[in-house]
Amino acid sequence: MSAYLDHNASAPMLPRVRAAMLAALEMVGNPSSVHGPGRALRAVIDDARDAVARATGAETKQVVFTGSATEAITQAIVGGVKAFQIDRVVVCATDHAAALKAAEVCGVSVRTIGVDENGVIDFDALALLADTAGAAGEKLLVAVSWINNETGVVQPRAKLESLIGPSPHILVIDAVQALGKRDLDFASSATDMMAVSAHKIGGPAGIGALLVKGHADNVRLIPGGGQEQGRRGGTESAVLIAGFGAACAEFATVFDNARAAELVGDFESRLTRVAPDVVIFSYGAERVGTTINFAVPGIKNTVAMMSLDLAGIAISSGSACSSGKVGRSHVLSAMGVASELSECGLRVSFGWSSTAEDIDAFFRAFETVLSRHRRNGAAA
Ligand SMILES: Cc1ncc(COP(=O)(O)O)c(C=O)c1O
Repeated sequence: MSAYLDHNASAPMLPRVRAAMLAALEMVGNPSSVHGPGRALRAVIDDARDAVARATGAETKQVVFTGSATEAITQAIVGGVKAFQIDRVVVCATDHAAALKAAEVCGVSVRTIGVDENGVIDFDALALLADTAGAAGEKLLVAVSWINNETGVVQPRAKLESLIGPSPHILVIDAVQALGKRDLDFASSATDMMAVSAHKIGGPAGIGALLVKGHADNVRLIPGGGQEQGRRGGTESAVLIAGFGAACAEFATVFDNARAAELVGDFESRLTRVAPDVVIFSYGAERVGTTINFAVPGIKNTVAMMSLDLAGIAISSGSACSSGKVGRSHVLSAMGVASELSECGLRVSFGWSSTAEDIDAFFRAFETVLSRHRRNGAAA
């Protein structure tokens, strides 16, 4: 019995991704070389760029490959501050660490906008800030994660675009968890820059992209040898890029949003049946149909995850922490969740490989956790 229910951390690799990467591994050379092998690698990268552009609604020339979405977001924020002479960076309290940490080192003042109890951005506070800044002649760079990786909350991108888009301010959207699940529609949107990552949709880790509009072409972090039309230096990894392109093409054929939402719906109703006291975070907000973050009061996530792991069930306590430890979730804290409850928070995330059998396997193991907890409670 085993089930992988941690797609928001990283999705299992898709079969055609593996094949595309193996084919690229057999090739030799540097994609910037003008000889035959170099040109062949360049063709692999060009095809992948087309595939990423199709999946994101971007123009091919708007796709800049980076070493991860973390790098893409850092480029957008740190490079954006310099390129646009930004006075202040604005992030959302529940943004991914990629944005929060980049803001910390961007060199200008930072304002963090809070969220309500469901994790939805305080849009009024942002609107007021944008107006005040506009009146004072200040230029803002606003970075918001469209779909939260921990709770699945969908932030109101259209409203953000209508507020920030037509103004002199710059809008950066972290679309890592939205790729494949929402229309990114980059080219025709009012978003200035957008970050995506391959490994959330069955591609390899270590490759992402920053989508940039023409006016943001001079947003840079790594100048180097002028690769990616001067927008990201460093020899491109044709292997990883081929994997990203293949993932973009294949994901749409194997992942069905409606089916995933059905699975999460089934999961939720079973969960409330077996644990009537369960708290589902962000329940009152629009959530992506692949993520559920919940807590059963009194059952610590460290304990639950250990038992589930022994039973071969892979889930998460929130965001994957680089130390491998379960830390306190900054997302749940920002939503005002008490620390005793957030220490019980578990995240289950579905994706292209998820099945009803995964849910059965989860509940077989989780019901053991629940009955042990009840026995211990009764004995106390
Ligand atoms: C919302 C969000 N943004 C950014 C990232 C960073 O992506 P990468 O792993 O490609 O650096 C992640 C990955 O966890 C994410 O979920």
